[in-house]
Amino acid sequence: MQTLSLSPLPYDYQALAPWMSETVLKLHHDKHHQAYVDGANKVQSQLAEARTSGAELDYKALAKEFSFHMNGHILHELLWSTLRAANDNNQPSGEMLLAINSSFGSYQRFVEEFNKTAISVEGSGWALVYVNPLDKSLMIGQVEKHNLNGLAGCTVIMALDVWEHAYYLDYQNLRAKFVEGYWNHVNWDKVEQLLNASK
Ligand SMILES: [Fe+2]
Repeated sequence: MQTLSLSPLPYDYQALAPWMSETVLKLHHDKHHQAYVDGANKVQSQLAEARTSGAELDYKALAKEFSFHMNGHILHELLWSTLRAANDNNQPSGEMLLAINSSFGSYQRFVEEFNKTAISVEGSGWALVYVNPLDKSLMIGQVEKHNLNGLAGCTVIMALDVWEHAYYLDYQNLRAKFVEGYWNHVNWDKVEQLLNASK
């Protein structure tokens, strides 16, 4: 596997404020996300070294470690790429709106279900929107940490991080306020691209 690297943000550090402050975005991207990249690379280099040295490794522990860091990296890449500066009346259209209406009945219902899923994550985790590979419908899911309770084989097209590192400095314990503000920043053009690519 190639060495992983952290992608630069597609906007500047102030772009998401006041929803996500410059301080939080900087820490979140440059420190927390970077740590997942480093963690995944570390596991891969241990595996690569053992292939030449013949050293015995704890493969179960390494697989667990890799799942955590690699999913952390992938979900953060998705998070940053599906956000943008706040827009008035920021709502989906086109194929994405059709998919939402057919899977959830309405945009309003979709937002309600997603918010409740995000707010109810126990401890650290994510709310995700998946494309079901079997019938191309949309599904909302939750993962704990970065990797527990996920749906295998489904394409994630939206991901909201509700770890405390994402919001605590800006909102303290008010996770629901952070989740509500997310909708002003969803980059629907990018989400629709991901939806179309998954078909
Ligand atoms: Fe995070």
